[in-house]
Amino acid sequence: MSGNTTKSISINSNHSPEQSEEQELSSESLEPPQSWRSNTATLKIALLVNLARNAPPVHRNAPSDILAELDEDKNVDAYAAAMRARNYEVLIREGNGHLAGWLEKVQPDICFNTCEGFGGESREAQVPAILEMLGIPYTGPTPLAAAITHDKPTTQRILACHGLLVPRFQAFNTPNDVLRPDMVFPLFIKPAHEGTGIGIHNDSIARNEAQLRNKVAQVVADYQQPAMVETYIEGKDITCGLTGNGDDVHFYPITEVDFSGYPHELEPIYGVEQKVDYESYYRNKCPAPLGEALTAEIRRLTHEVFLVTGCRDFARVDFRLTESGQPYILEINGLPGITPFSDLTLMAQAEGLTHADLVCNVLDAALKRYGITKLGLRS
Ligand SMILES: Nc1ncnc2c1ncn2[C@@H]1O[C@H](COP(=O)(O)OP(=O)(O)O)[C@@H](O)[C@H]1O
Ligand SMILES: [Mg+2]
Repeated sequence: MSGNTTKSISINSNHSPEQSEEQELSSESLEPPQSWRSNTATLKIALLVNLARNAPPVHRNAPSDILAELDEDKNVDAYAAAMRARNYEVLIREGNGHLAGWLEKVQPDICFNTCEGFGGESREAQVPAILEMLGIPYTGPTPLAAAITHDKPTTQRILACHGLLVPRFQAFNTPNDVLRPDMVFPLFIKPAHEGTGIGIHNDSIARNEAQLRNKVAQVVADYQQPAMVETYIEGKDITCGLTGNGDDVHFYPITEVDFSGYPHELEPIYGVEQKVDYESYYRNKCPAPLGEALTAEIRRLTHEVFLVTGCRDFARVDFRLTESGQPYILEINGLPGITPFSDLTLMAQAEGLTHADLVCNVLDAALKRYGITKLGLRS
């Protein structure tokens, strides 16, 4: 998930690979409680999470932000509380390699999926792939949509193909790839498939070829993936979120990131320092003062990006907006952060909703899509 998350990451605190299955679980027990089986009237939800404290060991010399997308117990407790407040039965489970057997045992009506994945090129697609294989309903993107939207070059190719405006881009597999002549400085460099500003720092803005090649070399070595190089779009950071499906979607107030609260030495970009290290310095304008026409246009674009990438239930689309009012699409977050402090949560709160309302809106979108009634019975 991308967006503000309250994280303090300690790579050294990772568990060993030999840890027992029970340790890998969050605070909930392995066996479902009696009420899970006996309370047949209510919806049974498996809340699937990836906790930073359960992450497998990362490679030596891994950058300190490598686990920044993983979750914390207190956030997981908030997702569970939102659904339990509706008297649903909720079991919390780590979305790891042991998931399939557990799901077959507990047979939930639906899974609420928040799993970012612990690693791999398509890590957000891993849990959806298990759920698709088992035929269990779940919230959020399919494996295909998750894999596409987690990969910035693939997403941008699809958006460009649909005539949607994205910054000019080139994916670099190595620092020595030939720079296309149409790629004009300043350029922006970020990992091809990360989120939460991971790998995005001041040096992501390159003003000459030496800076570009240095940053590409660092991204490729540290994150073990291609580097996405884009035209640097000077302008405002805008993000627009929705819940729902098809034409039945609800847009939350659009947010503009206000960079004035961050230390002056930080460039006005929404990288990992701004999102995690200086999270408490975050300021925004929500709703962003865009005027009616531009607000409608950003929403229209968000919806189109949501549809063409095949996302489901919720999403957040990030833009850069130039001074002349031209929006460029940076990415879609198919599994956006919904912690109590995430961007999407702040947007929901700006229209008077609570964090619990937002969690339930995501769930409701999925229930409606599957035709599952709130009592856990298929309609
Ligand atoms: N092409 C670009 N031009 C200008 N700024 C960019 C560009 N791409 C990314 N950024 C900056 O980096 C931030 C994070 O980029 P984004 O693609 O949304 O990655 P993430 O998945 O880490 O959120 C953006 O919000 C913006 O501030
Ligand atoms: Mg983003």
